[in-house]
Amino acid sequence: MRPPAPRSSTRLDHYVDRYAARTHGMTASEIRALFSVASRPEVVSLAGGMPNISGLPLDVVGAAIHDLVRDHGAVAMQYGSGQGDPRLREQICEVMRLEGIEAHPDDVVVTVGSQQAVDLVTRVFCDPGDVVLCEAPSYVGALGVFRAYECDVVHVAMDDDGLVPSALREAIAAVRAAGRRIKFLYTIPNFHNPAGVSLSAERRREVLEICRDADVLVLEDNPYGLLGFDAEPQPAMRADEAEGVIYLGSFSKTFAPGFRVGWALAPHAVREKLVLAQESATLCPPSFSQMAVSTYLATADWQNQVKQFCELYRERRDAMLQSLTDLMPVTARWTVPGGGFYVWVTLPEGLDAKAMLPRAVTARVAYVPGTAFYADGFGSQAMRLSYCYPTPDRIREGVRRLVGVVEEELELRHTFGTDGRFSSTLRRGYEAPNTDLT
Ligand SMILES: Cc1ncc(COP(=O)(O)O)c(C=O)c1O
Repeated sequence: MRPPAPRSSTRLDHYVDRYAARTHGMTASEIRALFSVASRPEVVSLAGGMPNISGLPLDVVGAAIHDLVRDHGAVAMQYGSGQGDPRLREQICEVMRLEGIEAHPDDVVVTVGSQQAVDLVTRVFCDPGDVVLCEAPSYVGALGVFRAYECDVVHVAMDDDGLVPSALREAIAAVRAAGRRIKFLYTIPNFHNPAGVSLSAERRREVLEICRDADVLVLEDNPYGLLGFDAEPQPAMRADEAEGVIYLGSFSKTFAPGFRVGWALAPHAVREKLVLAQESATLCPPSFSQMAVSTYLATADWQNQVKQFCELYRERRDAMLQSLTDLMPVTARWTVPGGGFYVWVTLPEGLDAKAMLPRAVTARVAYVPGTAFYADGFGSQAMRLSYCYPTPDRIREGVRRLVGVVEEELELRHTFGTDGRFSSTLRRGYEAPNTDLT
């Protein structure tokens, strides 16, 4: 049989007018092309948020996986439960206990990374046009999900202590005054991606109280909670409030992202909906990955491994903060993370991190411009720097190169004054955009 003749069309994509409306928001990031250059070895990338798993004992993990295949291969390579492996769900409850959560394995749904948990929760709750409240800035992967389900994101201001309660109150009132429905507040209380800050204990209580009073569900996304440098993990928001919070966790940062194992802990009725959504999305989360993670938790000293990760990240954070303090112009500001992977830098007034990125990549350093973390185009004066992956020496070199670029930009600005290139209206650091939706 002859293959069908190719369709002749001058259009690059024959199907362009057949895609569902929800795909219109699914656009490749404008900075993706630059990142293929940024991944060259001569470029110091302070952009990516890849966990640094070089310290994992691969021989121990390899031996455990060997035993798993030998002893339980027929189960590990078979379909499994849509809700996830019961033994792993019990172990997940043990992990969550470290953050003060008392939960039953029946209320846990295993997901393909916590990214899929964000997707399933949004799928279950959101119709097009529904409002999701998010911190300003917020995790780019969650913003992508909210866009794909055609939600309207309303950002809420943060400061060094995390989400600002008064701004949350105002945002809820403004959205409701505009006759819109809020489906949930998406929040990252620990070592925020990208802002690097954590929600203070006092504010956790206040935010929960506001959401309880206003009947707003909280989606607590907590992949970094155990990666603190200086103190014991803070109790999760879910530890104080079971009915009004869906909690998301992940083994991507405490073990390895390649297994793609995360979870959602949800009030019972919601959990049932999530399992149905999981079954229609994947039938079941991968049995093999779940059993590999479960075996690792049972046989390795995983908590000690997390401590070693924390030491590795602390050393890198210190290198980054020290270099910023030593080299950055005094008019720049940055957050001081107590854990996690990220520092949020606000550039001197008038500089635009997105416009500057090609020049930075030419100078062999990369970062993510702040605009990637807003649903509404704000954040141009800011950037996210990640310290998780490069060595401390590379981080110092990266910051040195970055400061060189910033100084050149300031020099240009000084020489040519505030021309069109620099004069965009900028909001400081992480103020909220206008919450007036009318
Ligand atoms: C805040 C936040 N949530 C969710 C995820 C997704 O993680 P995973 O799907 O690997 O569990 C990430 C990954 O970087 C993240 O930073």
